Amino acid sequence: MPAFASVAQFQPITARLGRVQIAPEGYPKTAIWGYDGSVPGPVIRVPQGARVQRLLRNELAQPTAIHWHGIRIDNAMDGVPGMTQEAVLTGGEFAYDFTVPDAGTYWYHSHNRSQEQLARGLFGPLIVEEADAPDVDADVVVVVDDWRMTEDAQIHESFGQMHDLSHGGRIGNFTQAFLRPQLDQVRRHDRLRLRLINPSTDRILTLSLQGMDGWVMALDGMPLGAPEPLGQIVLAPAQRAELFVDVTAEEGALATLVQHERDGGYALVDLPVVVGSRARRNAPAPLPPNPVILPEVTADTRREPLLMEGGAMGGMAQAMHDGEVKTIRELVQAGQAWALNGVAGMTREPWLNLSRGETVQITMINDTAFPHAIHLHGHHFREVLAAGYGPMRDTILIEAGARAEVALHADNPGKWMVHCHMLSHQMAGMMTWFDVA
Ligand code: C2O
Ligand code: CU
Repeated sequence: MPAFASVAQFQPITARLGRVQIAPEGYPKTAIWGYDGSVPGPVIRVPQGARVQRLLRNELAQPTAIHWHGIRIDNAMDGVPGMTQEAVLTGGEFAYDFTVPDAGTYWYHSHNRSQEQLARGLFGPLIVEEADAPDVDADVVVVVDDWRMTEDAQIHESFGQMHDLSHGGRIGNFTQAFLRPQLDQVRRHDRLRLRLINPSTDRILTLSLQGMDGWVMALDGMPLGAPEPLGQIVLAPAQRAELFVDVTAEEGALATLVQHERDGGYALVDLPVVVGSRARRNAPAPLPPNPVILPEVTADTRREPLLMEGGAMGGMAQAMHDGEVKTIRELVQAGQAWALNGVAGMTREPWLNLSRGETVQITMINDTAFPHAIHLHGHHFREVLAAGYGPMRDTILIEAGARAEVALHADNPGKWMVHCHMLSHQMAGMMTWFDVA
């Protein structure tokens, strides 16, 4: 009788220390903080509409909490300390109990001291399956994370450094792809469903495929109306992309996932193509749509700005912080570097009060010298374009100096955070919240 399961019957998920081989063989294992001691945390796979019941146990020396990123969740289960729950202290527990309305690729991660706790490994995939599985040969979660490591492959303890906070964030020196399940080889014309997740604290990934070709099927969990032919895939921190790809490389060659950097690219994953070619499939049908309302705006839709300011070379002179106007010097002394609508950090009153069912058009203005990945909790939203709308997303990348018009249909009651998912920027003030009542 799952509806009456007592908390004692929830499956535990334990935040604890672990040792994981992250750097290549030959390097020592890395001491991490992980769910059940692993990186990434265990893949949670559930059918669409299922009830997820997990008992978080905290065996870390710091308080923690789990946020279920991208799930249109009950507010009380959103995992934001100080807003939807108290942080779970060392030795403590919290019972997460929620349903998953949408199929797709989601993830879970700590939402306490996030820059440090994610850099140490506290994240995992949450996969919600459609009722009818599409026809593929393999369904693989690909978590691509950026690590800042010491020479002996240990996590660099440089958390919260003001230079990182005020620039592009805590960018690492080692990028690793974890495949779940592991995939060692493929055959020509195999169709793979790749579920890409970027849990990096701050790094924007630019990925492409060689020896494989296909379509983007979904972004941030939400299926595209029509599959889109694959080009380069840009994934800001927290973003996901679901691909269907067919292996096109010849037998004996490699199918490769490439990460592009300013000074070139390198292989994150190399899959040998073994003997046993099969007939190529037809182009896939779109994935079934999720039961989400697609926001529409009109000339009468309420409009609200979300102005991003601050950071190095940003020219911000002052901002509100903790209820006081502070100069940039005073802000930096308080560990702050960024502001949303003139305010650094959280406020007692929400940025927006929305009534349930209301649609609002948010003008996101990036008046800084860095890109930002703006995430809204509890909702997906879409960009308003000159002709129509962009895809539904829960995190949108806005380049330095750019702006985006975003349509949000606020149908999930509660208190929801808005923040940059470059966690160094969030830590240094780039966060606020809205209330839906
Ligand atoms: Cu991925 Cu505020 O979260
Ligand atoms: Cu940012």
